[in-house]
Amino acid sequence: MNERQRLNYLQAMGLQQWIVRQPEELSRESEQALPVQMDEISLPECEVHEITVTSDRIIPWDDLKNQVASCTQCSLHQSRTQTVFGVGDRQADWMLIGEAPGQQEDEQGEPFVGPAGMLLNEILFSLGLQRQTVFIANILKCRPPNNRDPLPDEIQSCSSFLEQQVKHVAPRIILTLGRIAAQNLLHTTESIGRLRGRVHDYQSIPVIVMYHPAYLLRSPTEKRKVLQDLLLAKQTLDQIDAG
Ligand code: URA
Repeated sequence: MNERQRLNYLQAMGLQQWIVRQPEELSRESEQALPVQMDEISLPECEVHEITVTSDRIIPWDDLKNQVASCTQCSLHQSRTQTVFGVGDRQADWMLIGEAPGQQEDEQGEPFVGPAGMLLNEILFSLGLQRQTVFIANILKCRPPNNRDPLPDEIQSCSSFLEQQVKHVAPRIILTLGRIAAQNLLHTTESIGRLRGRVHDYQSIPVIVMYHPAYLLRSPTEKRKVLQDLLLAKQTLDQIDAG
């Protein structure tokens, strides 16, 4: 477990981090402290099966998977073959976020397994990465009929699942694939053309916006821009490493 995950877990459990303090600071605080009786402290109720999450709470990974698999929060559950939770290393440094499952993903229960997925694998390969070493998820866990754009209420219903996945994986960097993923993760309506080429922030994690592999299949000349995006992602991590 890395440091960020450890802190997230501690925070979710309501535990404070230990901080070494000077003796003067401690005595000053104890003078100011009010006496509190244990029976005056009310503990928060534990709602293990609640789907809507508060920003600090972490749902155990297997519970999260079960919640996604049995989700009926929007109408997409009626047309899906199965949900598509995500795939890869739960402790990955790199997290890739796409839009929503397509037909093949809906049939196989895994993101990016169709032609766009093949191209994504190549993109990862050019970074020296493999599917198993990153974590790949989507904004939506169910396929929209005929691959139409996700609707706002569908995105809203699914958002806590992705939020939880990011907290668990605690990646060092996030790559968004396509307009829908970028705009919804970053809560913006800016075009992908304007969002690209900059380092954004999601919960203190750097985010690089890239074109969707399906778009690159239709417009191969844009692949050059993806290489620029990957370079920016690598540079961003290198800068973090250099402190
Ligand atoms: N496109 C996406 O955005 N996600 C997938 O999983 C497949 C295609």
